[in-house]
Amino acid sequence: MSRKEIFAGNWKMNKTYSGAVELVRELLNNLTDIGNREVVIFPPSPYVKDMAAICENSPIKVGMQNMHYEKAGAFTGEVSPEMVKDTGASYILIGHSERRHIFGETDEDVNRKVKAALEYDLIPMICVGELLDQREKGHTDDVIKKQVEAALEGISGDDVLKVVFAYEPVWAIGTGKVATPDMAGEVHSLIRKLLSGIFNDEISISIPVLYGGSVKPDNIKGLYKIDDIDGVLVGGASLSADSFIDIISVK
Ligand code: 13P
Repeated sequence: MSRKEIFAGNWKMNKTYSGAVELVRELLNNLTDIGNREVVIFPPSPYVKDMAAICENSPIKVGMQNMHYEKAGAFTGEVSPEMVKDTGASYILIGHSERRHIFGETDEDVNRKVKAALEYDLIPMICVGELLDQREKGHTDDVIKKQVEAALEGISGDDVLKVVFAYEPVWAIGTGKVATPDMAGEVHSLIRKLLSGIFNDEISISIPVLYGGSVKPDNIKGLYKIDDIDGVLVGGASLSADSFIDIISVK
């Protein structure tokens, strides 16, 4: 498979500064032979610049968990794309379900952030996923279609090749209820079908699509076997070097 394999850790709003430094140093000391796998960490914003400096010239890339799409201005508490770029971050997480459902981020916001990320040469990791209620009502495919199409509105075929998707069913996040490999695989192939429809097959097979939602060392094997799953976006289990390394080392 030619697609990049990406193992990402979203630390969310966790860790003290010293705990963050300790975790990243442990990862750096123990991630020796990861072949062509890419490891990305999303620390809390105030730590990103230091984490990016510590990880320079290492196999670990650093990203920010959120940003505004505007260039500058009166947006108290927000961070601009240029500021993210200046930290040394290379990735930006966009549309995480906690942003969508706790902070009211819309599909339109997501699209504007994707465009802003591409303008500033940041790799957008775009999260999509259905709520439990939507799955139970049989609306999963419609929800994913709407989120994927809206996120990519106005994005060119060249630019979309810089994007990464993460399918994170909301009911599986932080709940211990992981999607079965088959359930995840179905949505991953739907995302690929949607990408083929918007662009073409060649583009569709080139874009990494990660799975996220209660990924742990004891369930990574089954997920990793699925062809359309190109890696994972890990929350809780990325807060400990041991469990994140176990996940990254899956065979
Ligand atoms: P958990 O792995 O804790 O379920 O979180 C997943 C997630 O939201 C990663 O972005």
